Amino acid sequence: MKIFIDSANIDEIKKLEELGVIDGITTNPTLASVTGKNFKELIKEIFETLSSDKIINLEVIATDYDNILIQARALSALDKRVVVKIPCIPEGLKACKVLTAEGIRINITLVFSPLQALLCANAGAFFVSPFVGRLDDISMDGVEVVKEIVEIYKKYNYKTQVLFASVRSVEHIRVAALAGVDVITSPYEFIMDMYKHPLTDKGLEKFLSDWNNAGEEFIV
Ligand code: E4P
Repeated sequence: MKIFIDSANIDEIKKLEELGVIDGITTNPTLASVTGKNFKELIKEIFETLSSDKIINLEVIATDYDNILIQARALSALDKRVVVKIPCIPEGLKACKVLTAEGIRINITLVFSPLQALLCANAGAFFVSPFVGRLDDISMDGVEVVKEIVEIYKKYNYKTQVLFASVRSVEHIRVAALAGVDVITSPYEFIMDMYKHPLTDKGLEKFLSDWNNAGEEFIV
């Protein structure tokens, strides 16, 4: 399962890139705007921060077919790592089909149901992004929606990859992996939480105190 960071914060992206734990990033207009940075400058910094093998999801802000095409082509032309996020609306899916045929990878975003996901796959989307946390927020079962999408895609052998988005906890990441998603995109803090276990801390503390008590010298 690939792990993306869901962030436009350069410090966070840089830290996880240095740890070697991420396969790419997702951004959206909200995440980009909270940085307070000029969008072109922000994109440039993101490109410089991530290595050549990473995937960088950037989102259009247009909602009509013609402008979605213009914005998607412009984003895609910036860098070969770009996957273009387009909202799950009729004009967006129409654009997805055309852009996919041009070789541009599309991530259909703001997906909340298996039926929407079915249309995304038929439109040739590279990623489909069900927003699990936002479904949970309104007392629906976001994980169940993802499980159904995974099952449907498997049944029909769709190539579209399922990207578990709107992560709200480290538990979401565990459940996503068990459900067989292709990718999760998570805020920085939950990826860092994945490293944590009290027995790791306790075990390391004991190893080091035992070593120090023995008074041995290490090899270097
Ligand atoms: C990812 O592509 C989405 O933009 C993101 O996961 C949305 O998450 P949120 O519901 O926390 O805003």
